[in-house]
Amino acid sequence: MVVTKVSEFRRHAVLLFADLCEFTALNEASDPEDVALVLHGLRNTVEAVVRAHGGAVNEWRGDGVLCTFGLPRASENDARHAVETALSMHAAVRGLERHLPVPKGFEIRLHSGLHAGLVFASEREAAQGYDLVGDAVNTAARLCERAGRDELWATEETIEGLKELFETEPPELLVLKGKKSMVQARRIVRRSEVRDRFGASQRRGLTKLIGRETALWTLNQRLSAALGGSLTVLNVVGSPGVGKTRLLEEFRARVAGGVSVVTGRCENAPNAKPLKPFIEVLWQALGLQAQSTKAQIIEALSAHVRQFQPAGAAHEAALSRLLGLEAMPALSANPELVQQSFVDALGDVLSHLSVERPLVLMLDDWQWADDASRQLLGGLMRLLQRAPVLLLIGSRDADDPLLAGHPAVTLQPFTREESAEVIAALLPVALDLGLKQAIHERSGGNPLFLEELCRALPNAAPAGDEDLVGGKVPPTLRGIIQVRVERLPEAVAQVLRAAAVIGSEFSLGVLQRVTGISVLLPLLEQLVQGDLIHAVDSESTFRFKHSTTRDVVYESVRLPERRRLHAAAVLALEESARATGLPEPHEELGYHCAGAGDHQRAVRFAELAGDEAAISSSLDRARQQYRIALDALEKLDLNPELERLWIALVSKWAAASLYSPAREHLKIIERAGARALRLLDIAAAARAEYWLGWFCYALGEQELAIEHCRGALEKARSAGDQRLAAQLLLNLGQSLAAAGKYDEALTHLEAGLDAKRRTSQAGRAKPASERRTPLGAPYALACKALLHADRGEFPRAYECIDEGLQTLGQIGHAVEGSCLGLLGMVQLLQGRWADGLSTAMRAQATAERVNGPYVVAMSKTVSGYARWMLERDPDSLAELLHAVRWLEERGIGLYISYNYGYLADALASAGQPEAARDYAMRALARKTVDRIGESAAYRTLARLAVQGHVPGCATDFLEQARQSAAARKSVRELALIDLDLAKMAGERAFPMGVEAKLRELSHVFQGMGMDFYAREAASVLA
Ligand SMILES: Nc1ncnc2c1ncn2[C@@H]1O[C@H](COP(=O)(O)OP(=O)(O)OP(=O)(O)O)[C@@H](O)[C@H]1O
Ligand SMILES: [Mg+2]
Repeated sequence: MVVTKVSEFRRHAVLLFADLCEFTALNEASDPEDVALVLHGLRNTVEAVVRAHGGAVNEWRGDGVLCTFGLPRASENDARHAVETALSMHAAVRGLERHLPVPKGFEIRLHSGLHAGLVFASEREAAQGYDLVGDAVNTAARLCERAGRDELWATEETIEGLKELFETEPPELLVLKGKKSMVQARRIVRRSEVRDRFGASQRRGLTKLIGRETALWTLNQRLSAALGGSLTVLNVVGSPGVGKTRLLEEFRARVAGGVSVVTGRCENAPNAKPLKPFIEVLWQALGLQAQSTKAQIIEALSAHVRQFQPAGAAHEAALSRLLGLEAMPALSANPELVQQSFVDALGDVLSHLSVERPLVLMLDDWQWADDASRQLLGGLMRLLQRAPVLLLIGSRDADDPLLAGHPAVTLQPFTREESAEVIAALLPVALDLGLKQAIHERSGGNPLFLEELCRALPNAAPAGDEDLVGGKVPPTLRGIIQVRVERLPEAVAQVLRAAAVIGSEFSLGVLQRVTGISVLLPLLEQLVQGDLIHAVDSESTFRFKHSTTRDVVYESVRLPERRRLHAAAVLALEESARATGLPEPHEELGYHCAGAGDHQRAVRFAELAGDEAAISSSLDRARQQYRIALDALEKLDLNPELERLWIALVSKWAAASLYSPAREHLKIIERAGARALRLLDIAAAARAEYWLGWFCYALGEQELAIEHCRGALEKARSAGDQRLAAQLLLNLGQSLAAAGKYDEALTHLEAGLDAKRRTSQAGRAKPASERRTPLGAPYALACKALLHADRGEFPRAYECIDEGLQTLGQIGHAVEGSCLGLLGMVQLLQGRWADGLSTAMRAQATAERVNGPYVVAMSKTVSGYARWMLERDPDSLAELLHAVRWLEERGIGLYISYNYGYLADALASAGQPEAARDYAMRALARKTVDRIGESAAYRTLARLAVQGHVPGCATDFLEQARQSAAARKSVRELALIDLDLAKMAGERAFPMGVEAKLRELSHVFQGMGMDFYAREAASVLA
């Protein structure tokens, strides 16, 4: 039994380390007693600054200090406060040397490092701070060491979402002493002009406004009411990040011109001034700017006083106090009178303003209003009763007594469709294979959460659920969530933690069994009230409002408690399966066994879950489950038997990753190969190298792919694995074909197909239920088809594809998507745009169903180019570009020169010569590994050269195109090159003369079934 103390907890905290520069030199040159005085002075200064910003000094180590933010209680803006503290600290320390006994010329400066992360905190005796453990502590300390004189550095993840609040240097990848992985961090120089989170969003660029029609309508109604000449109030209410400020800003932009708008914001920083929102309002009402000097403030005030006599003079003192020109009255003054003088003065200013034009007074973040501001607002509301003023409040709080009786609009989270619009705008290089739905669920439709989650995605070109794994909770959200959770009474928080361990969705029954609490509903009701969970169906299943909340809560669950809860969940799930007679939920059981530390069973369940997913073509889930099984297996002491299991699992995982190649796959497969060789298991080693060859092929690294296919083939043969050897001949042929080595490719493809036919004949002896659908041959046939098509041998190409598709039958397998994708490419090579388009749509539909993002992207390039050729629609060009970018971002290079070639051509005809040239060059850069688009790229360069957009001679480019086409024996390309040459009217180019050449070309194209080009040749002739 592990005993845990209450004063120990897990927490995400922000850690700030600061050190005095050149402390050793100071010691060397000073008397120890003077050094003590210096340290004393330094400590006093630093501690005062930290206290003022709401942080805590955790400890001093000599000249260094560790400050914490968010311990023991989180606040929404811990990271921001920490940066501001550090900047103030550096400023406060600068110049201290004038007051302290330091050697001549010595300057007191700090260097600091800031990092936020998970720590385990144990409270020390007598409130002497915390003992903090965790990698986060080291990272902050090492970053501080790295920081130069008077420099402050912060890790990227700490200031994610806050960067715009500060002026910073570009980020750098740092190697920190003792740390294996590199850390991305940047130097923070000073505060920027941006003052709040919304300002930061504005600086990053707001996406277009989504939805909110009804709310804007209500705002307009209320404005009309105010125009009638009386104070009208509207409270805009909603949870953090739901879009209150955005709505108010949108409204401001729409009404600008017709009315005056002044805005004040409340702040929850410990160093925020009382009456801050009204000081801002006054400032704007007097026409002052953020950068106005003291002289300008005095001038604006006296202009106002002069204009509005005699009231002006009466209010002058109060106004100058609000403007900070004069100190506040002594504590002995009558607070009511002081307050009243502010109400009268400000009321006077605002009512004068509203005489000129109706006035909109916006007060945002009102939930943080200080007492004085609330009283002032109450007074103003009475005073401005009869003025054409619209008072708009933005607040998280729906029941502010001050606003009771006034209407409110409550902003709701986005619907799924609205979320999808935001995601599309924020992730331009994404494919939507369930991605939008997954992000919507994580965010609960909250616009801020949506934005931050999109920005924190680990993959720049996401496509689905899987790509969200590994995404960290951005600090801007973590704060909001932690504050909400910490407000809960302990009994309720405990239930929430148990629920988080169960998952994003949990049933009442399982939660009851896990917590041992039978009457749970009243506690859950409090969580619903607190906006943390909601009921899914009646009251038997609940869901976290955003799964981000679940992640934050889960992370706070202490390890022993976590293990206990996971183990209880395993029992509850098994019991419920027994009671209902339903099959065991393997995925959940695997997850909970892993969490409970029962890794052996976790492996078994996850593998079963993976198999189930794979058989239902849910490859992303299968990959996830096999990954979980592999990770769980790593936790066990591996004996040879478990090592074999590990290798077999890698193979299953690789098979499930077949259509989503990524560079990361290579490492783990290499390990599997090495392990297999160590175990002298040559068959397993062959299989691993086979997968290496496949992924190198799919990523477009044909030289490596060819090497691996050869290595694997040798191993498969010596292991006597005929099936694998046959498949490897095909793979080798495919890689050679992609590399443009067509003759060699054909030899291997044909040998492989023969071998495949032999093995499948042998397989026919088996009963139908045991026969496997042949998948390798159809794909190889489709690759062979592309090769023939490039050479202009279209009938043979279609024969191959037909044979392949027939072998596949109508099983709707993912490989059918790939074959159709290749068929679409073949049709484009022939100039059959409409057929290419419809084939690509079919390919895409298949790939979308089986979660094959690669095939989706590839078919989008085909459909994009086909539509461009048919309709010249700019959207189709955008589709093509989008898909190519996605492939590039993912590092997928298979046949990408084909896409580059077409993209360059489309861009050139769209009048974008620079982009066209750029993509043509990218195609050429792939020369040694991928040649299919090479000559097309040269042809585009020739066109651009004729138009004067690229230097060089068009005929030289066409000559290069010819060499590339000749090397591949591409009769099709050679004809296209001649057509271009003829178009350029190079009389000297053809001995027989251009006209005769064009006539000949027209026949050649007809012979290849390339009617589009035959017509083109004819039209040049005409
Ligand atoms: N209707 C919308 N369309 C597009 N983006 C939106 C919309 N509403 C909000 N956003 C974006 O979501 C982010 C959060 O919105 P906003 O800052 O207005 O939330 P808030 O409700 O004011 O939050 P808080 O309570 O923390 O002040 C902003 O970047 C904003 O631009
Ligand atoms: Mg706001």
